Amino acid sequence: VVFEEATSASKAIALEISNLIKVKQAQKQYCILGLATGSSPKGLYAELVRLHKEEGLSFKNVVSYNLDEYYPMEPDSINSYVRFMQEQLFNHIDILPENCHVPDGTLSKEEIRDYCDQYEARIEAVGGIDLQILGIGGNGHIGFNESGSLQNSKTRLVALDHITRVAASGDFSGLDKTPRTAITLGVKKIMEAKRVILMAWGERKASIIKASIEDQVTSRVPASYLQEHRNATFILDKAAASKL
Ligand code: GLP
Repeated sequence: VVFEEATSASKAIALEISNLIKVKQAQKQYCILGLATGSSPKGLYAELVRLHKEEGLSFKNVVSYNLDEYYPMEPDSINSYVRFMQEQLFNHIDILPENCHVPDGTLSKEEIRDYCDQYEARIEAVGGIDLQILGIGGNGHIGFNESGSLQNSKTRLVALDHITRVAASGDFSGLDKTPRTAITLGVKKIMEAKRVILMAWGERKASIIKASIEDQVTSRVPASYLQEHRNATFILDKAAASKL
Protein backbone atom coordinates (compact mmCIF):
# COMPACT_ATOMS: atom_id res chain seq x y z
CA VAL A 1 0.00 0.00 0.00
CA VAL A 2 1.49 3.32 -1.08
CA PHE A 3 0.76 6.59 0.68
CA GLU A 4 1.67 10.08 -0.45
CA GLU A 5 3.92 10.51 2.57
CA ALA A 6 5.04 8.81 5.78
CA THR A 7 2.84 10.83 8.14
CA SER A 8 -0.46 9.68 6.65
CA ALA A 9 0.89 6.12 6.34
CA SER A 10 1.90 6.08 10.01
CA LYS A 11 -1.57 7.32 10.98
CA ALA A 12 -3.19 4.50 9.01
CA ILE A 13 -1.01 1.91 10.78
CA ALA A 14 -1.82 3.48 14.17
CA LEU A 15 -5.53 3.23 13.33
CA GLU A 16 -5.21 -0.47 12.52
CA ILE A 17 -3.37 -1.08 15.81
CA SER A 18 -5.94 0.97 17.72
CA ASN A 19 -8.80 -1.03 16.19
CA LEU A 20 -7.09 -4.31 17.06
CA ILE A 21 -6.51 -3.20 20.67
CA LYS A 22 -10.21 -2.27 20.97
CA VAL A 23 -11.42 -5.56 19.48
CA LYS A 24 -9.22 -7.45 21.94
CA GLN A 25 -10.48 -5.25 24.79
CA ALA A 26 -14.08 -6.07 23.89
CA GLN A 27 -13.14 -9.77 23.91
CA LYS A 28 -11.32 -9.29 27.26
CA GLN A 29 -8.11 -10.54 25.67
CA TYR A 30 -4.57 -9.29 25.58
CA CYS A 31 -3.34 -7.72 22.35
CA ILE A 32 0.16 -9.00 21.59
CA LEU A 33 2.21 -6.49 19.61
CA GLY A 34 5.63 -7.10 18.09
CA LEU A 35 7.37 -3.74 18.05
CA ALA A 36 10.35 -2.35 16.15
CA THR A 37 12.90 0.41 16.59
CA GLY A 38 14.77 2.60 14.12
CA SER A 39 13.62 5.90 12.65
CA SER A 40 10.78 4.40 10.59
CA PRO A 41 8.27 3.69 13.43
CA LYS A 42 8.76 7.03 15.23
CA GLY A 43 5.76 8.63 13.51
CA LEU A 44 3.63 5.60 14.31
CA TYR A 45 4.55 5.76 17.99
CA ALA A 46 3.85 9.52 18.07
CA GLU A 47 0.40 8.86 16.63
CA LEU A 48 -0.30 6.08 19.15
CA VAL A 49 0.68 8.49 21.96
CA ARG A 50 -1.71 11.06 20.48
CA LEU A 51 -4.53 8.50 20.31
CA HIS A 52 -3.90 7.72 23.99
CA LYS A 53 -3.74 11.35 25.15
CA GLU A 54 -6.45 12.87 22.97
CA GLU A 55 -8.79 9.98 22.27
CA GLY A 56 -8.38 7.90 25.42
CA LEU A 57 -6.99 4.77 23.73
CA SER A 58 -5.88 2.49 26.56
CA PHE A 59 -2.92 0.10 26.30
CA LYS A 60 -3.69 -1.75 29.54
CA ASN A 61 -4.44 -4.96 27.61
CA VAL A 62 -1.36 -4.65 25.40
CA VAL A 63 1.66 -6.92 25.78
CA SER A 64 4.65 -5.97 23.66
CA TYR A 65 7.69 -7.89 22.52
CA ASN A 66 10.41 -5.92 20.81
CA LEU A 67 12.35 -7.41 17.94
CA ASP A 68 15.89 -6.78 18.94
CA GLU A 69 18.58 -5.14 21.05
CA TYR A 70 22.27 -4.47 20.56
CA TYR A 71 24.64 -6.71 22.50
CA PRO A 72 26.17 -5.86 24.81
CA MET A 73 23.90 -2.99 25.82
CA GLU A 74 22.88 -1.45 29.14
CA PRO A 75 19.17 -0.53 29.23
CA ASP A 76 19.82 3.07 30.30
CA SER A 77 22.48 3.65 27.64
CA ILE A 78 21.61 6.39 25.14
CA ASN A 79 21.48 3.89 22.24
CA SER A 80 19.60 1.07 23.94
CA TYR A 81 16.34 -0.05 22.39
CA VAL A 82 14.86 -0.20 25.90
CA ARG A 83 15.47 3.50 26.20
CA PHE A 84 14.23 4.16 22.66
CA MET A 85 10.94 2.41 23.40
CA GLN A 86 10.49 4.22 26.71
CA GLU A 87 11.16 7.61 25.14
CA GLN A 88 9.16 7.07 21.97
CA LEU A 89 6.18 5.17 23.40
CA PHE A 90 6.08 3.37 26.75
CA ASN A 91 6.60 6.43 29.01
CA HIS A 92 3.70 8.26 27.35
CA ILE A 93 0.97 5.60 27.43
CA ASP A 94 -0.71 3.44 30.08
CA ILE A 95 0.90 0.12 29.09
CA LEU A 96 1.92 -1.82 32.21
CA PRO A 97 5.73 -1.96 32.62
CA GLU A 98 5.59 -5.70 33.27
CA ASN A 99 3.94 -6.14 29.85
CA CYS A 100 6.83 -4.50 27.95
CA HIS A 101 9.57 -6.83 26.75
CA VAL A 102 12.80 -5.84 25.01
CA PRO A 103 15.62 -8.39 24.62
CA ASP A 104 18.14 -8.08 27.46
CA GLY A 105 21.52 -6.85 26.27
CA THR A 106 23.20 -7.25 29.68
CA LEU A 107 23.43 -11.05 29.89
CA SER A 108 26.62 -13.07 29.75
CA LYS A 109 27.21 -14.96 26.49
CA GLU A 110 26.57 -18.25 28.32
CA GLU A 111 23.11 -17.06 29.38
CA ILE A 112 21.94 -15.83 25.99
CA ARG A 113 20.88 -19.09 24.40
CA ASP A 114 18.52 -20.05 27.24
CA TYR A 115 17.28 -16.49 27.45
CA CYS A 116 16.41 -16.45 23.73
CA ASP A 117 14.55 -19.77 24.05
CA GLN A 118 12.59 -18.30 26.98
CA TYR A 119 11.80 -15.13 25.02
CA GLU A 120 10.18 -17.29 22.32
CA ALA A 121 8.45 -19.50 24.90
CA ARG A 122 6.89 -16.46 26.52
CA ILE A 123 5.55 -15.29 23.16
CA GLU A 124 4.10 -18.75 22.54
CA ALA A 125 2.59 -18.85 26.04
CA VAL A 126 0.53 -15.72 25.33
CA GLY A 127 -0.69 -17.15 22.01
CA GLY A 128 1.81 -15.62 19.58
CA ILE A 129 2.12 -12.16 18.10
CA ASP A 130 -1.12 -10.63 16.84
CA LEU A 131 0.53 -7.84 14.90
CA GLN A 132 4.23 -7.47 14.10
CA ILE A 133 5.60 -4.07 13.12
CA LEU A 134 8.79 -4.08 11.03
CA GLY A 135 11.22 -1.62 9.51
CA ILE A 136 13.76 -2.74 6.93
CA GLY A 137 17.52 -2.37 6.85
CA GLY A 138 19.27 -1.18 3.71
CA ASN A 139 20.39 -4.79 3.13
CA GLY A 140 16.87 -6.17 3.61
CA HIS A 141 17.27 -7.21 7.23
CA ILE A 142 14.18 -7.49 9.44
CA GLY A 143 14.85 -7.08 13.14
CA PHE A 144 18.54 -7.91 13.08
CA ASN A 145 18.05 -10.93 10.83
CA GLU A 146 20.84 -10.07 8.44
CA SER A 147 21.43 -11.45 4.95
CA GLY A 148 21.79 -15.23 5.17
CA SER A 149 19.27 -15.64 8.02
CA LEU A 150 17.19 -18.73 7.39
CA GLN A 151 13.40 -18.75 7.26
CA ASN A 152 13.27 -21.03 10.30
CA SER A 153 15.91 -19.11 12.27
CA LYS A 154 15.33 -18.78 15.98
CA THR A 155 15.78 -15.90 18.38
CA ARG A 156 19.53 -15.63 18.83
CA LEU A 157 22.72 -13.65 19.09
CA VAL A 158 23.85 -12.48 15.63
CA ALA A 159 26.86 -10.74 14.13
CA LEU A 160 25.86 -7.43 12.57
CA ASP A 161 26.67 -6.83 8.90
CA HIS A 162 29.19 -4.14 8.10
CA ILE A 163 26.48 -2.15 6.25
CA THR A 164 24.25 -2.28 9.34
CA ARG A 165 27.07 -1.13 11.60
CA VAL A 166 27.93 1.73 9.22
CA ALA A 167 24.26 2.82 9.25
CA ALA A 168 24.27 2.77 13.08
CA SER A 169 27.72 4.30 13.52
CA GLY A 170 26.39 7.87 13.58
CA ASP A 171 24.45 7.06 16.75
CA PHE A 172 27.50 5.49 18.38
CA SER A 173 29.97 8.26 17.41
CA GLY A 174 32.08 6.08 15.18
CA LEU A 175 32.28 2.60 13.71
CA ASP A 176 34.80 1.40 16.30
CA LYS A 177 32.28 2.17 19.09
CA THR A 178 29.35 0.50 17.25
CA PRO A 179 28.31 -2.93 18.60
CA ARG A 180 29.31 -5.95 16.52
CA THR A 181 26.51 -8.18 17.76
CA ALA A 182 22.83 -8.04 18.68
CA ILE A 183 20.00 -10.24 19.92
CA THR A 184 17.15 -10.61 17.44
CA LEU A 185 13.82 -12.34 17.28
CA GLY A 186 14.25 -15.07 14.66
CA VAL A 187 12.57 -15.06 11.24
CA LYS A 188 10.40 -18.00 12.31
CA LYS A 189 8.62 -16.07 15.06
CA ILE A 190 8.16 -13.08 12.76
CA MET A 191 6.61 -15.36 10.13
CA GLU A 192 4.32 -16.87 12.78
CA ALA A 193 2.80 -13.47 13.62
CA LYS A 194 -0.84 -13.38 12.60
CA ARG A 195 -0.38 -10.04 10.82
CA VAL A 196 2.79 -8.25 9.69
CA ILE A 197 3.20 -4.63 8.63
CA LEU A 198 6.55 -3.58 7.21
CA MET A 199 7.00 0.16 6.84
CA ALA A 200 9.57 1.95 4.71
CA TRP A 201 10.01 5.61 3.91
CA GLY A 202 12.22 7.50 1.51
CA GLU A 203 14.28 7.02 -1.62
CA ARG A 204 17.11 5.24 0.22
CA LYS A 205 14.81 2.24 0.79
CA ALA A 206 13.48 2.06 -2.80
CA SER A 207 15.96 -0.54 -4.16
CA ILE A 208 15.67 -2.95 -1.24
CA ILE A 209 11.87 -2.61 -1.25
CA LYS A 210 11.83 -3.59 -4.92
CA ALA A 211 14.10 -6.58 -4.20
CA SER A 212 11.94 -7.64 -1.23
CA ILE A 213 8.64 -7.49 -3.11
CA GLU A 214 9.45 -8.24 -6.76
CA ASP A 215 12.55 -10.43 -6.76
CA GLN A 216 12.76 -14.07 -5.71
CA VAL A 217 12.43 -15.07 -2.10
CA THR A 218 15.99 -15.40 -0.87
CA SER A 219 17.90 -15.55 2.40
CA ARG A 220 20.08 -12.76 1.00
CA VAL A 221 17.08 -10.42 1.54
CA PRO A 222 15.25 -11.65 4.65
CA ALA A 223 12.37 -9.20 4.06
CA SER A 224 11.57 -11.21 0.89
CA TYR A 225 10.35 -14.05 3.14
CA LEU A 226 7.28 -11.90 3.77
CA GLN A 227 6.10 -12.73 0.23
CA GLU A 228 5.20 -16.10 1.73
CA HIS A 229 3.39 -14.70 4.78
CA ARG A 230 -0.38 -15.07 4.62
CA ASN A 231 -1.18 -11.60 5.99
CA ALA A 232 1.73 -9.22 5.45
CA THR A 233 1.50 -5.69 4.04
CA PHE A 234 4.30 -3.38 2.98
CA ILE A 235 3.23 0.18 3.78
CA LEU A 236 5.33 2.66 1.84
CA ASP A 237 5.59 6.30 0.99
CA LYS A 238 5.88 7.29 -2.67
CA ALA A 239 9.66 7.56 -2.54
CA ALA A 240 10.16 4.07 -1.07
CA ALA A 241 7.76 2.68 -3.71
CA SER A 242 9.39 4.59 -6.60
CA LYS A 243 11.26 1.58 -8.05
CA LEU A 244 8.32 -0.84 -8.02
C1 GLP B 1 17.81 -1.25 12.79
C2 GLP B 1 16.72 -2.06 13.47
C3 GLP B 1 15.72 -2.59 12.47
C4 GLP B 1 15.24 -1.43 11.59
C5 GLP B 1 16.42 -0.85 10.85
C6 GLP B 1 16.03 0.26 9.90
O1 GLP B 1 18.71 -2.06 12.15
N1 GLP B 1 17.26 -3.16 14.22
O2 GLP B 1 14.66 -3.23 13.14
O3 GLP B 1 14.26 -1.87 10.73
O4 GLP B 1 17.31 -0.34 11.83
O5 GLP B 1 16.13 1.50 10.54
P1 GLP B 1 15.42 2.81 10.02
O6 GLP B 1 13.98 2.66 10.30
O7 GLP B 1 16.04 3.89 10.89
O8 GLP B 1 15.76 2.96 8.59
